[in-house]
Amino acid sequence: MSAFRKQTLGEFIIENQKSFQYSSGELSKLINAIRLAAKVVNHEVNKAGLVDIIGTAGETNIQGENQQKLDVFANEKFIQTLTNREIVCGIASEEEDSFISINSSDENHQNKYVVLIDPLDGSSNIDVNVSVGTIFSIYRRVTPVGTPVTIEDFLQPGNQQVAAGYVVYGTSTMIVYTTGDGVNGFTLNPALGTFYLSHPNMKFPENGKIYSVNEGNYVHFHQGVKHFIKYCQMEEEDRPYTSRYIGSLVSDFHRNMIKGGIYMYPKSSLTGNGKLRLLYECNPMAFIAEQANGIAIGGKTRILDIQPTELHQRVPFFCGSRKMVEKLQEFLDKYQ
Ligand code: AHG
Ligand code: MN
Ligand code: MN
Ligand code: MN
Repeated sequence: MSAFRKQTLGEFIIENQKSFQYSSGELSKLINAIRLAAKVVNHEVNKAGLVDIIGTAGETNIQGENQQKLDVFANEKFIQTLTNREIVCGIASEEEDSFISINSSDENHQNKYVVLIDPLDGSSNIDVNVSVGTIFSIYRRVTPVGTPVTIEDFLQPGNQQVAAGYVVYGTSTMIVYTTGDGVNGFTLNPALGTFYLSHPNMKFPENGKIYSVNEGNYVHFHQGVKHFIKYCQMEEEDRPYTSRYIGSLVSDFHRNMIKGGIYMYPKSSLTGNGKLRLLYECNPMAFIAEQANGIAIGGKTRILDIQPTELHQRVPFFCGSRKMVEKLQEFLDKYQ
């Protein structure tokens, strides 16, 4: 089916909005703003080696990471786009120490959504031309409309998300997102600057043969994870599985959702609670996973049920095909 007969993201949003009984169109405008920012970042990612956008920005973020120039560029573009259009009342980002309150330009400003973003996921891949992504998570505010947002608006459990999605800047650029009614993927036609519905109703295969984990940390993992990794490597039944780890959560997740697989970022004696951030990495990816018949746990707990306590808190993260995560759960239960 040629791209021209595929629905565009814009058409999909309008159609989707009709089914949104109470939508004031704000969520549609919000997804449209993210689409625009994604195209701007994509343009920069695609020519990273030709312009002064690779390498470190010379700053350290609140995560203790050396900010890459593209981290800073992507962060600025997403914040600028969301702020200029006055669609949201607050933004939190991996690259910002605290949340940003978008104060109303007129007293009856009724914006009700807050956005949490990982503007550039997989920063370690930028300089070596390997795929990276952007992750976003959207909530309704819980404090009164028209007042400045508070931290309470951002520390909501993932089961309260209104929408979540990611952009993957890979061999092609895609936006994959959910508003709670399934997961749909849109591919950018760079010649036209238009995203087309290329992957309707995406689902995790119930089982898979790919496991994704940084095995360099193996010695630091707890017993249950070690035994599961050995289980994946044994010559039995449908195993050994394939080990695939790109080092960008978005890319590893996207491949596993299409082919079947499990992604793991366990806690370890090295990283305490693991590396991934609950609010703008684990929660949005967990929402997408569950909407695609997958599972996302932090160990004993469902990721989406964790009550956040800090903006940049980290949690262990295991996510993917239902049967693979359930098998891991058996090992986690058996080897405390
Ligand atoms: P970010 O680039 O936004 O800081 O996230 C990087 C994350 C995730 O994308 C990836 O899976 C993981 O870090 C890789 O971590 P290790 O290099 O420790 O394996
Ligand atoms: Mn980072
Ligand atoms: Mn990230
Ligand atoms: Mn990041």
